[in-house]
Amino acid sequence: MASTISSSLNCPTSSSSSYSRTTPASRSCLHSLSFPPKPFPLPKKISLRNVVNTHDGAVAATATPPENVSSLEELKDELLSITASLEEDVRFDIKEKEDTVSITVVGASGDLAKKKIFPALFALYYEDCLPKHFTVFGYARSKMTDAELRVMISRTLTCRIDKSENCGEKMEQFLGRCFYHSGQYDSDEGFAELDTKLKVHEVGRVSNRLFYLSIPPNIFIDAVRCASTSASSANGWTRVIVEKPFGRDSESSAALTRDLKQYLVEDQIFRIDHYLGKELVENLSVLRFSNLIFEPLWSRQYIRNVQFIFSENFGTEGRGGYFDNYGIIRDIMQNHLLQILALFAMETPVSLDAEDIRNEKVKVLRSMKPLQLDDVVVGQYKGHTEGGVTYPAYTDDKTVPKGSLTPTFAAAALFINNARWDGVPFLMKAGKALGSKRAEIRVQFRHVPGNLFKTKLGPDHDRSTNELVIRVQPDEAIYLKINNKVPGLSMRLDRSNLNLHYAARYSKEIPDAYERLLLDAIGGERRLFIRSDELDAAWALFTPLLKELEEKKVEPELYLYGSEGPVKAHHLAYRYKVQWGDSDNEHR
Ligand code: NDP
Ligand code: BG6
Repeated sequence: MASTISSSLNCPTSSSSSYSRTTPASRSCLHSLSFPPKPFPLPKKISLRNVVNTHDGAVAATATPPENVSSLEELKDELLSITASLEEDVRFDIKEKEDTVSITVVGASGDLAKKKIFPALFALYYEDCLPKHFTVFGYARSKMTDAELRVMISRTLTCRIDKSENCGEKMEQFLGRCFYHSGQYDSDEGFAELDTKLKVHEVGRVSNRLFYLSIPPNIFIDAVRCASTSASSANGWTRVIVEKPFGRDSESSAALTRDLKQYLVEDQIFRIDHYLGKELVENLSVLRFSNLIFEPLWSRQYIRNVQFIFSENFGTEGRGGYFDNYGIIRDIMQNHLLQILALFAMETPVSLDAEDIRNEKVKVLRSMKPLQLDDVVVGQYKGHTEGGVTYPAYTDDKTVPKGSLTPTFAAAALFINNARWDGVPFLMKAGKALGSKRAEIRVQFRHVPGNLFKTKLGPDHDRSTNELVIRVQPDEAIYLKINNKVPGLSMRLDRSNLNLHYAARYSKEIPDAYERLLLDAIGGERRLFIRSDELDAAWALFTPLLKELEEKKVEPELYLYGSEGPVKAHHLAYRYKVQWGDSDNEHR
């Protein structure tokens, strides 16, 4: 299935200058190609009074009863009656013979569902990117009515794109498509009941079903077994989005894949790594392969080192229980940073088809030099009090065992044993409770041989060589550091940036990664999802290291909450003649 470069959010509202996807019907904003948007009839009884404008101009349905609604119960009843009449319209609307898509969020009562999945689905709906006939189902053990689910979802919805236009209406229309079924994750009966409910909405059409497993990993297989045996589509496709963690090491990951494949074929499994859905990560290939100035430089000949930096300025608050079983290497490095590295370093794929791209990524991962303990630094944040504010230590978290050695920070030097990258250090750094929140890629170029301006550049030549920075978040930007003559009669040089600052260049807000990935899963586009052999290769790289760290009980270096992290991370970089690009405030 060949495809050309494309953007999943090339919706009708996209700017005309953006490139477009021309892959199968799925590409582009689905609605705009295969499901022409149709104005949704709005029942007269819909009122916009339970919609508020938030301080940033976004609009959200309020969870607080507005003045003339005395209680939350009344608000729920009102939403229920509104959405009931919308349901009638939905049913009326689907008499035409067209496919339906049902998206079931398994674990709908959870944090990720509330925070990311439902808001992303709404954003897609808001942008007319969802198919005409879609239904969203929440499935979890918690007892909830449809109306209660809608109230829960409405609390996190915002109209982030076009801040005022029809937002309230769109929300109510969207909520009218959301339903709930309560059941156990290992209950065939529960999923059979879900199946019956889905059929009511599918009204005999070709039914495509997407299950999003937003549940803890120990219940993935039960849920997949029940969904596939009791609730998969009889006449359309059935796909399952699986959230990380995909195991803890090579063995458990292989077991997970093996178990999933008892019920699903590889093409039905969409392993999500939400970093691949981030705008600047997706742009990496565009930047490199469609600009003549970059691709020829993309090798050991011109690149001195590459850095992948992830930092958060908050700790594991609330997720300590999960985190302690994984640690930062499994949580961030083995997946998010390694995926970016693979995209960054791969050879030119034959085409932009998912298989061609993933083939190239696997080759990079399989060419990596085994990771040595010596090339890794681990750290853990400790608490302190500053200016009257107390910052907790990792081990202060009640869900974290006392004396835990789980790293909340890690830095590593990796190498790719191939002709393009031989000897080039690929440095990774990931940490929680550091001084800032950021994710970026830094490409440091070699020094100019025989530089005529050497004497004008100051003693630190590393700091005066070109550096390309791809700031994935926050405040997306791509900038290239160059040496430049300061205007004037003297010959004085400084470091300046050629700067593509997204907020200044593009007026359209950047979609959340989950929007892109959900749209791709609905469209059957696998390019941004992890194939099982990629996953195996990623675990093969990190598993021996993780085992060694755990067997040797390597003590993490303690670092202050809010600091730059362990000093040893600098020593590691110096060993390879590298300076972390983010550690020099003046030259960031
Ligand atoms: P939650 O812990 O909030 O769990 C989701 C739902 O699963 C809960 O609402 C609960 O629903 C059910 N559940 C929780 N624990 C159990 C259990 N032990 N046995 C059976 N059911 C249980 O998870 P998140 O929403 O935070 O995450 C969902 C998935 O996404 C996980 O795999 C997580 O690792 C992954 N993930 C989460 C991120 C986040 O930011 N939250 C980020 C990246 C990945 P009920 O009781 O109603 O059945
Ligand atoms: C998740 C990790 O995969 O990514 C979290 O489990 C981390 O620990 C999160 O906080 C970061 O994602 P983002 O998109 O906020 O950078």
